[in-house]
Order: sequence, then structure tokens, then C-alpha cells
Amino acid sequence: MSTLDTKLLQPLSVLGVTSADGLESLFAEIRARLDAEAANAIDEPSCKAFRDAWLGRKSGIITLVTDHWLKPASPDLKRSVGAALNELRRHVDEQLEARRVAVESGAESAASAKDRIDLSLPGVIRPLGSHHLIRTVMQEIEDIFFSIGFSVVEGPEIETPYYNFEALNIPEHHPVRDDMDTFYLDLPKDAAGPLLLRTHTSPVQIRTMEKRQPPVRVIVPGKVYRRDNPDATHSFMFHQIEGLAVDTDITFCDFTGTIEYFVKEFFGEGVTTRFRPSYFPFTEPSVEFDASCIFCSGKGTTASGGTCGKCKGSGWIELFGAGMVDPAVYGFVNYDATKLTGFAFGIGIDRLAMLKYGIDDIQVFFQSDVRFLRQFP
Ligand code: FA5
Repeated sequence: MSTLDTKLLQPLSVLGVTSADGLESLFAEIRARLDAEAANAIDEPSCKAFRDAWLGRKSGIITLVTDHWLKPASPDLKRSVGAALNELRRHVDEQLEARRVAVESGAESAASAKDRIDLSLPGVIRPLGSHHLIRTVMQEIEDIFFSIGFSVVEGPEIETPYYNFEALNIPEHHPVRDDMDTFYLDLPKDAAGPLLLRTHTSPVQIRTMEKRQPPVRVIVPGKVYRRDNPDATHSFMFHQIEGLAVDTDITFCDFTGTIEYFVKEFFGEGVTTRFRPSYFPFTEPSVEFDASCIFCSGKGTTASGGTCGKCKGSGWIELFGAGMVDPAVYGFVNYDATKLTGFAFGIGIDRLAMLKYGIDDIQVFFQSDVRFLRQFP
């Protein structure tokens, strides 16, 4: 027990304090202790201990001073002891309040430090979308044709039979319509006429020639529809890029040269092309373009000597249909068939993308499976 603790248990008369001076030095000693203990009250538990030590009802220092110094004090000293005790009590209260504020604001700043936003932390990264592979391949094809003077035009996906068939030299009941069966719109009875989802991008040939005079050099990317049953190479909705060039002096050589340039740019220099006779009512002659098989380099066999499954051993892969514009078509757009020549082609984008990127099922393009889409960022 310290000397002050001992003194607090004895009356002033025993301590030999009989004057105001002696009282003052005794209370100065207590205040020094108060200040020292207040400085140690730095958190809630130590503040509580500090309060108990000074204001505790049974053995707090204020109680001890009251019981041992004030109550037994001589009448001429009692007033001074009472005043000094009041002063001490006020000082205890002040110290307690100051410590409470300090502890609370310290806790607050600790809490706000916890909640503070740290601007140096990495942000929430939201995944960015990217082009679908079909869109990317479309762009690749467009860029190749841009580089040789073609421009892009677009047309409606909902067409009239006239633009989809008749103006392309496909009259009603022509057998070619069987290959291009499509979806007709369910229209009100008094509607002007049937409307259908276009089966190819070729109607935009007609729409373009109706609006423009030669020279014409356009490509037409877009969606087309057919009542084809879905399988690995067929979809009821797919994409084409139509090409049309019409001028006064376009030859079959310009036509094959343009296609060969495109195929080499798209698949690579090592790929060669060939064309076979084909039939489309709106081109004459019509051809089907093939490219040397990009999987077996046109050999028809695999590295291990087996038959190449992609070209079935032929060394060639069918690419798309094309031809010189049939003069009959010029009649539908008031072009002078005696002066003009041209060529047209219709590329199936989905199948070209499958060939170039080694995709063996067209359906994956339309299933929105991010595991597939992420492979082509
Ligand atoms: C046509 O659509 C002609 N309009 C192309 C043409 C244009 C010829 C200009 C001459 C002049 P075809 O029906 O062959 O042709 O289709 C063209 C390409 O579309 C095919 O080579 C193929 O790549 C793609 N294609 C056809 N049907 C489907 C289908 N159901 N699913 C995915 N691709 C298809």
C-alpha cells in the first residue's frame, strides 16, 4: 500500500494536518495521482477501472476522503476540507469526461478507418462482351472486299416473293423454290400480299440495282432463313454475304480472279480454288466454288495415311455458289443487258467460319454457351 493509500485511511489530525497549507499539499498529492491515473485510462476497461478507483461508493478515493478526512475534521478545518473535496470531485469528473470523449472518438476513428474506401484497391471488373465469331468472320470477309473496292449495302429480312424469287428469275412453281422453302408471315386477310423471311441475300441484288446505276460493286451481309432441319451443317437461320459487281466490261476472268483473291486472303496463300458447273436461275453460267482442303492441304489423306474426313478424300471442300449475272435479271431492274455484264456470289458465313476455325457443328453458334464463345474473344 502506498503512503497516499495509508494516508487516505487516517483522519487529518493523525496525519498532523491542522492548517490550510498542510491541506493544500495533501490535496496536491491526490491530484497528481488523479492526473497520472487518468493518463492511463486509454480504453473502455481502463476507464471503468479509473472511475471505480475514484468514484466507487465503498472504497473510491472520494468516499475515503469524505469518510476519513472530511467527516472527522476539526470544525475550523472542515470548511476548507469540504471546499478542497468539492474541487477534487469536479476535477475527477472533468478527467473522466475527457477520457470518455478520447476513448469514444478513438473507437470512432478506428471504426471509420475500417469502413474507409481504399481507392488503391483493384475495382470490380465486369467482364466485357466481345464479338461473336460469326460477326468476326463477317468483318474479315467485309474487309477483304473493301480492299478491292466493294461497299456494304443491307436489305430487309422480311421480303416479298417478288424480290426473293420472281425478280431473281425464279417464277412461281419453279422447282428451285423447293430448295428454298421458308417461313411465311401470318398476315391479316386484307393485307396487301404474302411476306416471307428471305431465304438468301440475293433479293438485295435487285433492290440495289433498282436504286443504283452501274458500276455497282456491293456486298450484302445478313441473316437468312430456310425450313431446313437442323443438323451439324444446317440451321433454319444462318448468315450469308452476297456479292454483286456489274459494269460494262466485267468478264468471267474478273469473276474467278476476284473469288480466288478472296479465298486466298481468307484461308491463306497455300489454298487453291476450282469451280464446277452448277445452277442458279439468276446466274448464267453458274458455278460452285471449291477450295483445296485446308485440313489435308488438298491431298485427301491424313498424315497417318488415312482418308481425310473433312473432304472425304477428294482434296476439295465446297465453298459457295456464284456465277455471271443472268441477263434475264437485268430485265427486272431496267438495266441494258446488251451493254452490261457482271457476277454475283452468295457465301454461307457460318460454314466458312466452321471451316476456318475447325468447328464441326453449326448449332454451337446459336446456343450462347459461353464456354464456346470465350474461345473466340
Ligand atoms: C444461295 O443461297 C444463292 N443465293 C447463292 C448465290 C448468290 C448464287 C449469287 C449465285 C449468285 P445456296 O442455297 O447454295 O445459294 O446457299 C448459299 C450458301 O449458304 C451455301 O453454300 C451454304 O454455305 C449456306 N447454306 C445454305 N443452307 C444453309 C443452312 N440451312 N444452314 C447453314 N448454311 C446454309
